[in-house]
This record gives sequence, structure tokens and C-alpha cells, in this order.
Amino acid sequence: MNGRKSVFKDESKLDINYVPKTLPHREKEHRLLMEFFSFLLRFSEKMSQRIIITGEVGTGKTVLAHRFGADITLQANKQKVKLRYVHVNCREYRGKIFLILQHVLTIFRPNFPKRGYSSEEILDMLFQILDEENTHIILTLDEFDTLIKNEGSETVYKLTRLQEIRSGKPQRISAIFILRDLSLIDKLDDSSRSTLQRNIIRLIKYRRNQLIDILNERIALGFNLYSVNEDVISSIAELGFSESGNARFAIDLLWRAGKYADASDKEVVTAECVREAISSIFPTIRKNELDSLSLHEKIFLLAIARFFNNNENAYTSLSEIEEYYAIACEEFNEKPNSHTQIWKYTQLFSALGILKIEVTATSKRGRSTKISLPSIPSKELEKELSAALRNNNM
Ligand SMILES: Nc1ncnc2c1ncn2[C@@H]1O[C@H](COP(=O)(O)OP(=O)(O)O)[C@@H](O)[C@H]1O
Ligand SMILES: [Mg+2]
Repeated sequence: MNGRKSVFKDESKLDINYVPKTLPHREKEHRLLMEFFSFLLRFSEKMSQRIIITGEVGTGKTVLAHRFGADITLQANKQKVKLRYVHVNCREYRGKIFLILQHVLTIFRPNFPKRGYSSEEILDMLFQILDEENTHIILTLDEFDTLIKNEGSETVYKLTRLQEIRSGKPQRISAIFILRDLSLIDKLDDSSRSTLQRNIIRLIKYRRNQLIDILNERIALGFNLYSVNEDVISSIAELGFSESGNARFAIDLLWRAGKYADASDKEVVTAECVREAISSIFPTIRKNELDSLSLHEKIFLLAIARFFNNNENAYTSLSEIEEYYAIACEEFNEKPNSHTQIWKYTQLFSALGILKIEVTATSKRGRSTKISLPSIPSKELEKELSAALRNNNM
């Protein structure tokens, strides 16, 4: 791109999947994990380990496990110990133990046929392979909440006792369970629970200054020197802190602000870039909300988005929206709902914080309603809704 400057030195360092060499403010937890598993490097056949990592969204659970996995593998290699770290996100396998085990097996036997075996059989084969190869695996089950919810306690019971079933044979599988909601393990039977409760690592939400350290580290890796100033860093940390100490939110915001700086040819990331980045994040945060709307609620909101896309006005009225709504209904072959229903939609979206309603008194006809869309860019909203409606139609 004809030598245009960028605030980024290496954008990949801001990617959600990037695992930094060091994790500020998680050093203690990292050391603890290394200690919990250090015996594996000496007598991997004699013991296995089970650990829970728990904490809110964006507290570094996933990145901590990955960092630990890479570090312990490195040590094992140095000492010529056969150890493999396997990280599986249970949500990606819809919380189904069968699919998860199948995936783990194909890491060792890529051509393994996908059909015809039960979970128990797959597990047996996995143990057999690990015996043959004389290998121990540390299996991390990330977003374990989805597995508990989907499979219930019996499967979890089995998972916690994998080794006991094979008494006398070499130990082959250790596990790290990553769990957001610790209360889910209260539902398990006593023995699974007591096994799991012994080794819990709790990640506490990051405070503002901790987020500043994390951001500074990423900036050093990913941005050019002096392209993000301190004020901007502390405002992003503040926002991450109010999003419940969420480092993911903060890093994502930093990256987006950098993109806005590049888009407007700025050499530094300014506060305005951060504001633009925030308004770009809201629709994506609301995606889940949009998905749960009914067909007509979506069409109604699409009409609003279109109105503000086509008009510079900051406000609209109920009757103008009704016209846009009727046109949109035609497009989707739907019969428009009544005026009363439309008023209800307006109130719903006001309650959800998407629309703002102001009722003003006018001279003769009584009252009029002014409707605005204060914080979501209408282009984004239209795009998201069009996509959601397309899914609806499929
Ligand atoms: N202590 C830390 N140092 C550097 N980056 C961190 C730290 N904690 C979290 N992150 C980063 O913040 C984001 C969210 O962390 P993640 O591990 O995905 O959180 P969780 O799994 O708890 O939701 C990731 O991009 C991760 O790399
Ligand atoms: Mg995670």
C-alpha cells in the first residue's frame, strides 16, 4: 500500500489467539501450575493430576493454560520425557464428550474412522495408543461448563476417575478443567466434587493498573514506538476494568482503536479513535441479543436502522418508522403488525437501551414522540440485522 504508515508494528500480537511469552499478573498462577505438574517430568507413569482453573470472562484462563502447556512441553522435551499437551474447547464440540474424545484420538491417529465407536471404546483405544507410545497427555477441557451442562454429572464422574478404572496400569491422562461457573461442580456427586475441589486455581478479575501493564506489554509487541500515549492506555484500561476486569475487551479495544487510527492516517492512536472503536464494538456485543429477537422485532429494528441511514435527522417519529416498517415487511412477505404493536416494540427497544424515546407536548394535538438511536451506528445495525434476517429465512 504505497508506503502508507501504520501505527502497528506487528498486528498479529493483538490477535485473540496469540499467546505471549510472559503473562503479567499471572506469574504466581503459572508457577503453581508448573508445580502441580512437575512430578510428571519425573514419574509420569506413577501419577496423574486434576486441576480446575476458574474465573470470569477475560481473566486469562485460556491464555494461562496455553502458556503453561507450551512451557511444560518444552521442559519435557529437554528432559526427553514423553508428554503431550492437548487443549480442547468443549463449546466447539457442543459439550459432547463423544466428539471431544474423537477429536483427541484423531490427534494421534488422523485417519481414524469417525463412525461406529462409542465413547468408552474411543477412550480404550486412546489409552492403548498412549500405552504403545509410552506417552502421558495433559488434556485441558476449556469451557468445561458446556460439557457439564450437556452431559450431566455421570460423564464428569467418569472423567475424574479415568485413571482409577485402570488401576495398576501406568498413568496416562492428566486433566485441566477450565470452568467459569464453579457452582456447576456443586451439582456433581460427592466423590467427583471432592476430587476436583482439591486443586482449584482462581483467577481474580484484573484491576485497572494490572490492565495497564497487560496493555503496555502488548503495545510494546504490536505497536510502533510512541504511537499510543498514556492517556489513551489508561482510558482503555478503565473501560476494560468496568467491563468486569476483562483483558480481552481491553486488548480488542486497543486493536480496534489502532485500526481507526490507520484508517484516518493518524500517526498516533487518539481518544477519538477509542470512541470510534467503542461504538463499533457495541453491535457485536449485541449480536446475541439480536439473534434472540422475533422476526417482526428484527424487521422493525431494521426499519429504524434504514431510516437513520437515509436521513441525517437525529430523531424520527412513530409514523415515519411505521412507513419504513411497512416497506420492510413487504420485502420479507410479512403482514405488518398494528400501530399498538409497533409502540410496544419501540418501548421494548428503549428498555434494551437501543432506542431512546422522548415524549414532548405539542400545542394542539397533545403529545408527540421523538425516537433516536443514540449509541449504535445505523450502518452497523442494518448490516447485523440483514445478516440475522437472512439466517431467519434459511
Ligand atoms: N496476564 C495477561 N497477560 C497478557 N495477556 C493476557 C493476560 N490475561 C489475559 N490476556 C489476554 O486477554 C485476552 C483474554 O484472555 P483469555 O485467556 O482468553 O480469557 P478467558 O479464557 O479467561 O476468558 C487474550 O487475548 C489473552 O491473551
Ligand atoms: Mg477462555
